[in-house]
Amino acid sequence: MQDIHIVDIRKLTDVIRAKYGFDFTNYAISSFKRRVIRILELYKFSNIDALAQKISNDPKFFEEFVSEITVNVTEMFRDPSFWRIMRDNIIPNILLNHKRITIWHAGCSSGEEVYSMAILLKEMGILENSKIIATDIDEQILERARNGVYTVKNMELNEKNYVRYNGENELNKYFEVKNGLAYMDKSLVRDVSYRKHDLVNGAVFNKFDIVLCRNVMIYFNQNLQNDVLKKLHESVFKYGYLAIGSKESLIWCDIANKFIVANNDEKIYKNIKE
Ligand SMILES: C[S@@+](CC[C@H](N)C(=O)[O-])C[C@H]1O[C@@H](n2cnc3c(N)ncnc32)[C@H](O)[C@@H]1O
Repeated sequence: MQDIHIVDIRKLTDVIRAKYGFDFTNYAISSFKRRVIRILELYKFSNIDALAQKISNDPKFFEEFVSEITVNVTEMFRDPSFWRIMRDNIIPNILLNHKRITIWHAGCSSGEEVYSMAILLKEMGILENSKIIATDIDEQILERARNGVYTVKNMELNEKNYVRYNGENELNKYFEVKNGLAYMDKSLVRDVSYRKHDLVNGAVFNKFDIVLCRNVMIYFNQNLQNDVLKKLHESVFKYGYLAIGSKESLIWCDIANKFIVANNDEKIYKNIKE
């Protein structure tokens, strides 16, 4: 396996920023470097310069690069206890004040998190009163989210999570298996809007009752987490909620005093200051 220096990584991120406006400078260096090395080997580039040139000249290849660089691992009802708290505590709390509920999935990956939310809302009888926006930086993974087609093997794990979540039905009520693939019930996401959005350079575009940004900032360094968390805070209504991944934290960051902990184990925070 070849090794690459930090200066080479910097060269690459500079080219990408100049050409496409995406800024990977503050992604956690070790996993970013590991993925760049994998791309060099996978596409048989002789060195970083060759990769940088290809990225610069070929926007289609750049899409593939983004897809390879980002970690897209996800599951339906990932951390089932998180979804139980959403259903039993967080969402009922929001509904005390208004009937409509707006949700942003930031870093939605291939859409499993969105389907989990849609199923939860449907079983609560409020899917029709909800508006979901789902975004990701990776165009290819967004396409998979829009398609809503998953492998049967992945669905087995999703089904186990759903049972632990204590769902109302069997998960297979919400998909159909054809030729070894699971096709999700599209009516669940009829009103979901999937959009490409970069959390690093993208602007704040709306306010929501709930913002989920789970297992995304784990790939950013602390400075970048701090910047992105400021934008996420601006995207949550006062008394709305921000949910991050179970291994992430916002305790140390600049906007920590604007939130109170709604659930510590599940890393759900309530916005108390504008
Ligand atoms: C590990 S997945 C998390 C998926 C889902 N939220 C979950 O917890 O299962 C991380 C996602 O963040 C996306 N991502 C990485 N950098 C991003 C950025 N700057 N802006 C928006 N999304 C980003 C990746 O493309 C990937 O789909």
